[in-house]
Amino acid sequence: MISEKAASPAFLGERVKLAPSLLSCDFTRLGEELRAIEGADWAHVDVMDGLFVPNISFGLPILAAARRASALFMDVHLMIERPERYLRDFAEAGADGMTVHVEATPHVHRAVGLIRELGKRAGVTLNPGTPLEAVRPVLADVDLVLVMSVNPGFGGQRFLPGSVERVRTLRRWLDELGSAAELEVDGGVTPQNARLLAEAGATVLVAGSSVFGSDGPQAGLSRLREALS
Ligand code: DX5
Ligand code: ZN
Repeated sequence: MISEKAASPAFLGERVKLAPSLLSCDFTRLGEELRAIEGADWAHVDVMDGLFVPNISFGLPILAAARRASALFMDVHLMIERPERYLRDFAEAGADGMTVHVEATPHVHRAVGLIRELGKRAGVTLNPGTPLEAVRPVLADVDLVLVMSVNPGFGGQRFLPGSVERVRTLRRWLDELGSAAELEVDGGVTPQNARLLAEAGATVLVAGSSVFGSDGPQAGLSRLREALS
């Protein structure tokens, strides 16, 4: 159960972390973009392999460059087949946390165990069409659960409203376990739905286009903070 205090307006903004997604930033100015999101809690790093998702984004060298440019927590979302093949490499390139998809490996339990052995925060996630039951067996063994609120592969998609109920259910399951794992939401997060997601129990909100929009990252972050205040 979320306590009355946790759901109270003033507390939401303190409890919820904002994680701008670098997928929407200007890569010709990666260092500047990272400086422009100082004050955000995490940087969300979307790695796509063109197999697990129908798009290719970037990989190890870009993460390593981001790591050199910023002290922000690097929250790496691995949209790649058989992510266990590359966990060590992403850890060495500067990931602080790594999140794997249940659909991408038959060995999700082994993968999250390996992330923890590497000394990193272990996350698990699932696509909007995957039943929540698929992550339940590993909930006690992760530091983060990510609810995809769009089909992964592209920034700038419309939020799938059914995701709010999925957040509520996972909040309940985590609370029943007494887990302190972060509950993150990724895809189509805007100032219009941020509060609803936080009230449903999310603790980290990823935001790509709503942060790196036309009037700059600080304005985008302020609008999200305002929505949560
Ligand atoms: C989608 C990525 C997201 C994406 C979010 O596959 O996992 O992190 O960058 O972008 P917006 O916030 O624009 O939906
Ligand atoms: Zn992502």
